[in-house]
Amino acid sequence: MSTTNACARRVAMRDELLPFALPDTGEEEVREVEAVIRSGWLTTGARVRRFEREFAAHVGAKHAIAVNSCTAALHLALEAIGLTSGDEVITTPYTFAATGEVIRYFDARPVLVDVEPSRLMIDAAAIERAVTPRTRAILPVHLAGLPADVEAIAAIAARHHLHVVDDAAHALPTRVRGRLVGTTADLTCFSFYATKTLTTGEGGMICTEHDEWADRCRIMSLHGISRDAWKRYTAEGSWKYEIIAPGFKYNMTDMAAALGLAQLSKVTAMRDRRALIAARYSAAFESLDTLQVPESGAPNEHAWHLYMLRLNTDALTVDRAEFIERLKERRIASSVHFIPLHVHPYYRDTYGYTPEDLPVAWTEYQREVSLPIYSSMSDRDVDDVIEAVSDTVARYRR
Ligand SMILES: Cc1ncc(COP(=O)(O)O)c(C=O)c1O
Repeated sequence: MSTTNACARRVAMRDELLPFALPDTGEEEVREVEAVIRSGWLTTGARVRRFEREFAAHVGAKHAIAVNSCTAALHLALEAIGLTSGDEVITTPYTFAATGEVIRYFDARPVLVDVEPSRLMIDAAAIERAVTPRTRAILPVHLAGLPADVEAIAAIAARHHLHVVDDAAHALPTRVRGRLVGTTADLTCFSFYATKTLTTGEGGMICTEHDEWADRCRIMSLHGISRDAWKRYTAEGSWKYEIIAPGFKYNMTDMAAALGLAQLSKVTAMRDRRALIAARYSAAFESLDTLQVPESGAPNEHAWHLYMLRLNTDALTVDRAEFIERLKERRIASSVHFIPLHVHPYYRDTYGYTPEDLPVAWTEYQREVSLPIYSSMSDRDVDDVIEAVSDTVARYRR
């Protein structure tokens, strides 16, 4: 780069760090939450029920049960299928803490199987090999917003009489052969955490077609109190209640649901904007031999919660950590998804995993960098990311 160019670049540098993630919230969210505050009914109430109805209709599910996180949703889903101590659940190492920990809540065993290299999705053939007489369920993650191999997983589950609980924390809206995720498993768990594709600050949703599981999740989400415990302070409610099981305190508040309703009305528009950003990134990077762009998922629909770029580190003189630092110098925040579960001290020490036990997860993790992708990014923000990434790989090309 010439001195003149270097100066020009410095002048053009962003003033502030581009955050890795930001919620797309505006006046509509403010109005909805304000209405809740003015109503005097802050916790679970009519807005939660409306959010559940509208969410169920949106994904095409029979039941939707709103809770206060995806972690809670996964816990309730595994409780509903009757997971108990000593059972095994086959899941992916390429995920966040929540996916594994909820299995441990039951003193059950998370059986981690490797992912396939192209999409880093749980490998269906590896699932089949891991089935034992103690296996009760399969817990796939629709990583980044691409669908897991739902048909192969459903076939394995049917063959071995297993339940499928989907971790769909990234998968709103993700479409598989025309069907939205939310209807493709026994129970599907969504996240509305602050960085997710629909946010309620913290929140989650369980979708299922099964009446019994829906009932159980609902009851256990609020102390195991028999039906409609939340109504006990309403005009039509009663002070009388019965505890039928030692449940949890996982209910969603009306404040959160108000945010959720405003967000749901623009969930498709937000996805379309992210898809556009992803298309621009991929167009800029796919011809570079220093980078591997993520699959678009076509003809399925990618939610584009994450844009998971991979560095061809053999072609670069910097490793992933340095690459992230160089982006930060250009005031672009990035992240890594995910440090595989099996290399964390808890899983390593409890189950004796070594990193190489799941070689694809371990190898691919070391070259993965997630770029900012959210609907409130401006075109200029997208240009800045493309320029920072392109310049960095050009500068450190071997
Ligand atoms: C794959 C995956 N599963 C589960 C969760 C947990 O979601 P929550 O924070 O809503 O409990 C996350 C959160 O980032 C996630 O990425």
